[in-house]
Amino acid sequence: MKIVFFDSGVGGLTVLQEACRRLPAESYVYYADTLNVPYGVHSKEEVYGFVTACIDDILRNHEVKAIVIACNTATSAAVDDLRSRYSFPIIGMEPAVKPALESVRESGRRVLVTATPLTLKEHKFQTLLGRLESPGQVDTLGLPGLVAFAERGMLDGPEVIAYLREQFAPFELERYGAIVLGCTHFVFFRDAIRQVVPRHIVLTDGNAGTVNQLIRLLDPKRAERSGSAEPAGDAADIVFMSSKGTEDERRRLADSFEAWRRQAADA
Ligand code: DGL
Repeated sequence: MKIVFFDSGVGGLTVLQEACRRLPAESYVYYADTLNVPYGVHSKEEVYGFVTACIDDILRNHEVKAIVIACNTATSAAVDDLRSRYSFPIIGMEPAVKPALESVRESGRRVLVTATPLTLKEHKFQTLLGRLESPGQVDTLGLPGLVAFAERGMLDGPEVIAYLREQFAPFELERYGAIVLGCTHFVFFRDAIRQVVPRHIVLTDGNAGTVNQLIRLLDPKRAERSGSAEPAGDAADIVFMSSKGTEDERRRLADSFEAWRRQAADA
């Protein structure tokens, strides 16, 4: 039985890497909907249709233990409906706003949530904001350009830096204490973002929290133990798939994963 990681493209590889490190003995499928990426500029209904078509494709090929929707956009558009449609556990993602607010508790600085336009406008995120103690401390910024850069394998360089400077220009960044990377594609740009924002700013993402939730659902006893002497390793058993279904795409995903795994190990 496989644990499936699903995303529109390469972004979810950053979450898969965290899962492989924490659960090295599991077998994984990584599925990218590269026919339809980017999701963030589509409607909720379109994204729901894309995701269910992909999950049906996965189920034709694999026995599934759980699916991690390693995509904030697909989660906000589809997770509730997916849970009523399928019987296996489905783990979703949402922008890590609470840890970001926690990190600015003492300084009182502001939090900037970056995500795709669809995530930011969807009900799920608006509800999350509405439940916060201090929603007025939070601003939002859509960065769809980073999804396009990541799909082209451009994780740094002058074009990326120019894009980030332009997008952050309207914000007085000295007043911010944390930036939330609310899209799994954005996690690739941690180093690039660090180059353009003040040093005191903390970057938060939902990757570790998502893997914690996966562990809680699969093995609650292990979840209780985790944090103590949890062995960390690297799973080798990963099948890469995409909605394009080509060998080139499969190889691109596998290569991006290896590159990210090496980078994360060096960090
Ligand atoms: N990786 C995705 C997310 O976490 C979506 C990127 C996209 O397809 O627009 O939101």
